[in-house]
Amino acid sequence: MAVTSDFLVIGSGIAGLSFALKVAGSGTVNVVTKKERSDTNTNLAQGGIAAVLGDDDSLDLHVSDTLASGDGLCHEDVVRLVVEEGPPRIRELIELGVQFTAEENDAGKLQLGREGGHSRRRIIHAQDMTGRAVEKALLARAAESPNIVFYENHLAIDLITQTKLLRRGAVTTVSSERCWGAYVLDKATGKVKTFLARVVLLCTGGSGKVYLYTNNPDVATGDGVAAGYRAGALVTNMEFVQFHPTCLFHPKVKNFLISEAVRGEGARLIDARGRAFMAEYHPLKDLAFRDVVARAIDAEMKKTGDDCVFLDITHRDPDFVRNRFPNIHAACLELGIDITREPIPVVPAAHYQCGGLATDQNGRTNLRYLYAVGEVAFTGLHGANRLASNSLLEAVVYAHRAAMAAKEDLVRRMKKNWPEVPDWDPLGAEDSDEAIVVAHNWDEIRRLMWNYVGIVRSTSRLKKARRRIQMISEEIEEYYWNYTITSDLVELRNICAVAGIIIDSALARKESRGLHYTLDFQEKDERLAHDTVVSLASRPAAA
Ligand code: SIN
Repeated sequence: MAVTSDFLVIGSGIAGLSFALKVAGSGTVNVVTKKERSDTNTNLAQGGIAAVLGDDDSLDLHVSDTLASGDGLCHEDVVRLVVEEGPPRIRELIELGVQFTAEENDAGKLQLGREGGHSRRRIIHAQDMTGRAVEKALLARAAESPNIVFYENHLAIDLITQTKLLRRGAVTTVSSERCWGAYVLDKATGKVKTFLARVVLLCTGGSGKVYLYTNNPDVATGDGVAAGYRAGALVTNMEFVQFHPTCLFHPKVKNFLISEAVRGEGARLIDARGRAFMAEYHPLKDLAFRDVVARAIDAEMKKTGDDCVFLDITHRDPDFVRNRFPNIHAACLELGIDITREPIPVVPAAHYQCGGLATDQNGRTNLRYLYAVGEVAFTGLHGANRLASNSLLEAVVYAHRAAMAAKEDLVRRMKKNWPEVPDWDPLGAEDSDEAIVVAHNWDEIRRLMWNYVGIVRSTSRLKKARRRIQMISEEIEEYYWNYTITSDLVELRNICAVAGIIIDSALARKESRGLHYTLDFQEKDERLAHDTVVSLASRPAAA
């Protein structure tokens, strides 16, 4: 028996929760989330939300900073829309109970932080735990709504679309492709359930786990992009993977970020000998755009053979550092690093997927009734390199726009009967006693992507990676259809699909621009200032 609702939200970060709260007055909402509801990338966001609130700031300045960071690929109409709609969405978050940090001497004024590429202080934050503050407030509001039901430890496997139903004989006509819901693995029972909805929102976040080193949580396995791609959604600009320059380098910690806000408050990058090197790479030094800083660190590490560089904020007043960055200070201290007295060892790591499922300005994908918002989506805002703290901003602005559009879609689709959807067919699959195959492929993909498809790329490495991914993909498909589905297997299939899309997109871009840097085409080519679009029907020519 299918689980039905008006809206199905897949993911429980800022995008999903904001959307759910806005549509819950119009219908029932099922929120499917693959771990506990607060296990999201949002929850880990340290820096904050960029929005024009300062007296010395303007919408035009935020727009021009975003365009400069995006290196010629931002869609200017989208940038303007997001920047303009940011301040009202921030006010809504405050009304929902998010406690942003105020100025010390003026409780009525929000304290504005600074990050790389921003010409003004405009980062609204909750100390260095902004995401946690947002997630907590939105979850508290969602818990008060009788129309919102959470399904924790439920992992969406694949979308249910008209064509799929047609193939299995459940519907008889297909005019244009549309989405009806998803098959979802209940991780507690191992059973696959059918979730049907009149409107489906994918907000599953990004795909940092495609890479060996990432500051993303374990949930970031590209599930939304992979499922959308398999269902026929268009995927755009996946070659632009953002590597955050400063992740903590420590054997006991696998994914702890040292926020860019630390550099915003004056921290400098130095090498093991104490040399500050950023002036050699960009006039903005430590606050240059993220792609520049990550490449500079990569070059320094390759040049010196060192395992990491260091971030030094010891010149600032220790009380200031402890108050402004309590989370980073405490986490480092637990590992024996007192950041008020010694530099922090850091390395770049995969952080943010700038591409994703292509949407219009209301978050609609090319599959009717399927929306995508947040990191999983490509709206045109980020271009070739996302400006720091523009992602939570994009998520709240688009969650609002998508909610308005989805409510109209609901009215339109109300009249339709639910289709007869066949239960998930396990095709006689049996339990596997070869979990090692899954573990091995996980490791191989992530290592391959880090070594061959990382901060600095080349055509020959990309081609090698593509050949290997193709072989692993065939192995996984065989495994997938012969053995009982597990969450590890579903995630492995997804990271493999996303890895393949990143490689193909990277091969198609024969220039260096923003986050995509290749030794074979080291310059930007203005004739190539357009998006890379990939779909199941047509992978880009990548020879
Ligand atoms: C950070 O705090 O450095 C991350 C902010 C972002 O990625 O936008």
